[in-house]
Amino acid sequence: MKAMRAALGVASECAPLVKTGGLADVVGALPAALRPHGWHLRTLVPGYPALLARLSGSHVAARQDDLFGGPARLLSAQAGGLDLLVLDAPHLYDRAGSPYLDEDGQDWPDNDRRFAALGWMAARVAAGALPDWQPEVLHLHDWQAGLAAVYCEEMGAQAGRLMTVHNIAFHGLTGAGRRAALRLPLAGFSPEGFEYYGQISALKAGLIWSDRISTVSPTYACELATPEFGMGLDGVIRARADALSGILNGVDLAVWNPATDPAIQPFATPRGKAANRAHLAAEFGLEPGDGPLCAVVSRLSEQKGLDLLLDALPRLLDRGGSLVLLGSGDRALEAAWRRAADQFDRVGVRIGYDEGLSHRMYAGADAVLVPSRFEPCGLTQLYALRYGAIPLVALTGGLADTVIPANEAGLRAGVATGVQFHPVTAPALGFALDRLCTLYSDRTSWGRMQRNAMRAEVGWDASARQYAALYEGLAHTR
Ligand code: ADP
Ligand code: GLC
Repeated sequence: MKAMRAALGVASECAPLVKTGGLADVVGALPAALRPHGWHLRTLVPGYPALLARLSGSHVAARQDDLFGGPARLLSAQAGGLDLLVLDAPHLYDRAGSPYLDEDGQDWPDNDRRFAALGWMAARVAAGALPDWQPEVLHLHDWQAGLAAVYCEEMGAQAGRLMTVHNIAFHGLTGAGRRAALRLPLAGFSPEGFEYYGQISALKAGLIWSDRISTVSPTYACELATPEFGMGLDGVIRARADALSGILNGVDLAVWNPATDPAIQPFATPRGKAANRAHLAAEFGLEPGDGPLCAVVSRLSEQKGLDLLLDALPRLLDRGGSLVLLGSGDRALEAAWRRAADQFDRVGVRIGYDEGLSHRMYAGADAVLVPSRFEPCGLTQLYALRYGAIPLVALTGGLADTVIPANEAGLRAGVATGVQFHPVTAPALGFALDRLCTLYSDRTSWGRMQRNAMRAEVGWDASARQYAALYEGLAHTR
């Protein structure tokens, strides 16, 4: 048997152990996806209390007496089917709350050093700190891992570096006065380095000191180079265009399988959704009308465009549609959605985070709405496809790459899997909802769309091959 090549993924979350969004799903799925391509991908994550509690058979792989203000241990462990390196540093991670926020929903004030520490240990591993395991490739995810690239440079680590941008809206900014405390070199504090308008940007550091950059869909790769979507880093992206690839996210087909999912009434054809639909409506206390039962599973943030959906909602309700929403985040949006649920009989809202309910929603809904202003890839529309719920999505980022629109061409060719709209405004969304209802009323063509959707290839095969090719190239960088 051919020997496995070694790579280390570095991220702030990882499903099924700790998840706030799609980043965790992707980081959790990549190791299994890359294994058939000869790569043994271990994952380095912070030792949050909930994660430490789930480790089995861990041993100390490395220690550091002072890691940004306290002692730390690097634990080698297995959990959730993953091969992990867990950074156990109680002064940084032993707290209640989410990976990023305290119990009042505010960023932890020392997030800069919490994730600098993660990057530091990643660089140490890349530089050979573990006697029995040396990665050829370091795969950094989002700003939380970005500083690892600088530390690697400082430590002379040989591993090739790949920076994956899951969302360029989050830069990981901190004050210039923190440079020395974060052990960053003075020479790097320049416009060509990690300086960003007088501050330090961890994401920019990762973009500049990595050998290759990837993002999570081909369309977002194009968008990143524009002022509209680049969020102030489009110039950096343009300067590194030759190093950039767009590789679409996949879905873990074992976890997201409607035929075997223990959270739902399993089904293999669209017809089998009926029991789940009835159950979902009952769970939200709704009497669905004649129109489609639509679902939203989402973080409530500006990105996701759910304020637009509030404005467009009457168009859906007037056509007999109904809506169930599961989400949390922005307090004002949470309140606005609670009000909508009070105001309309056919709108149900759950504020919170509930993995099991999310599965029941994909299984029971006729359609899943994703009206994002920007969407690097998006996973909810992929889960929707897989569970025979028709995605209605904004024409942006990965939403543009994963849904075949039910426009005239798509319908005539019999290949449509969803509805797309553009521009991303409330009137355009209202128009798309109206169209969705019209499509829903033609049961034959709706059934065909559902079958197309459930057959769509949303697994990791094609994308894993592309990552493996990138890793291969990186392994020989230095
Ligand atoms: P993002 O990462 O920007 O939030 P994605 O579509 O890539 O968007 O991934 C979102 C992931 O988080 C999906 O797995 C989705 O099902 C899940 N999710 C989002 N909000 C909730 C929630 N309130 N409860 C359960 N799962 C959620
Ligand atoms: C980010 C993006 C989302 C993407 C996910 C995983 O959270 O907002 O579009 O699917 O990362 O890559």
